[in-house]
Amino acid sequence: MTNAAINQVVDYRADLKPRPHLAEVDIFDVAEVELDAHPHNYIARMRERSDVWRRTVSAVNREIGVYTLFSHDKCTQLLTHPEVCQFYTQLLMWRGVPVGPLQNLFVNGMPTVDGTVHRRRRKPLAGTFTMPVIKRLQPDIRRFVRDHLTPYLARGEMNVATEFAKTMPPRLLCSIIGIPEEDVDYFVGLARQAAVGLTLFPLEQMGDIDAAAAALMGYVERLLDRQRTHGQSDFLRQYLQSASAVDPELTPAETYVQLIDLMLASAETTRMTITNAISLLLADRRQWDLLSQDALFIGGAVNETLRYEPSVGTCPRFTLADIELGDERIPANSIVSASLLGALRDPALFADPQVFNITRTDFQRKHLVFGGGAHRCLGESLAWIEVFETLSAFAELTPNIRLRDGPATCTGLSGIRQVSDCHVIF
Ligand code: HEM
Repeated sequence: MTNAAINQVVDYRADLKPRPHLAEVDIFDVAEVELDAHPHNYIARMRERSDVWRRTVSAVNREIGVYTLFSHDKCTQLLTHPEVCQFYTQLLMWRGVPVGPLQNLFVNGMPTVDGTVHRRRRKPLAGTFTMPVIKRLQPDIRRFVRDHLTPYLARGEMNVATEFAKTMPPRLLCSIIGIPEEDVDYFVGLARQAAVGLTLFPLEQMGDIDAAAAALMGYVERLLDRQRTHGQSDFLRQYLQSASAVDPELTPAETYVQLIDLMLASAETTRMTITNAISLLLADRRQWDLLSQDALFIGGAVNETLRYEPSVGTCPRFTLADIELGDERIPANSIVSASLLGALRDPALFADPQVFNITRTDFQRKHLVFGGGAHRCLGESLAWIEVFETLSAFAELTPNIRLRDGPATCTGLSGIRQVSDCHVIF
């Protein structure tokens, strides 16, 4: 399977302008900004009509079907369907950016390609973040999380979103990868800037994003050169060995980009989940008390936060042929998004789906918040344990914690979502 089919039907050079009407909605007369502000309300209303939301948008001088799936079952089917593919590189081309450092990250990345190329790029990292590996690291992760929280205890207050959830996860990942302490701020800062390239950013920001993407590539190249000569990181040693063992061997650019992708895929997703978890639990004190008194509820709180406010709104795909998802036939050359927001509040699966309840037991064995199929999240075990250890640390070290200004708000219908500040007092 290749992405060639997309290029056959779309000449991206024909239209280099952004298309504002891509954002228009025809089922309800509601602006994208309104959908982003109250996504759950709109999905609940749309679901009353259908679990597939159809739109046709005019893009690149042609009509493209855009479908959004709200049912858990259809989303699962889409993500494992053999006749769909990723289209990030094409998306950037449609927006008028056929080449450049950001496009270079996409072209050489793991989330952007399918089939054998994808498998080759994923393989060298596949064994590094499995649950058994992360379980072995759990005592170190516990220490890391607590070390990060402790300095704030004396201060008596904290903005969880910006002071803990934004800084702890990328620092932890750097320490697992083996990025030297003195480089962490530089690397994380660049990754944060480049990650804007994963959104539908205003094209005026292209220069800054490209500069960050180019600097990241340069940094990882130097990091791996140092590792080859006098490296101390077990993770990087193993990664380099695995990258040269796949057939054909990963190119230098491919080797650098998979490491960068880890940071791009993890920082905001984990930040949002940690912030939402603390905020949702403190907003319903009984559930916080339950968890504080009995650590057995911490796992349920992690799963429920991920269900109730998933940090990734949609997983989009492009259809390479006509496909059938249950009773729905979707034509070839359409964009179809699995709405994780919709799927994770699907009343067919979850009792009282609009209620945040850490004692619920109706979870699937594989949580759909991490996607499905070949592109299922590589870092799910790390993310899950990070959030688990964070809740455990806050419950133990800050027994009197409360929200200062009310709960955080989580917005966004698609892509990586946004979360507001979350001030707490200890
Ligand atoms: C709560 C935190 C996280 C959530 C909710 C999350 C969610 C997801 C989802 C939904 C996908 C699939 C996207 C798609 O199929 O279109 C994905 C892919 C990915 N995630 Fe995560 N993620 C999280 C944390 C992490 C962490 C901590 C890492 C790395 C250490 C990571 C690395 C990746 C990578 C590399 C991919 C691409 C996999 C591929 O294309 O084969 N994620 N993630």
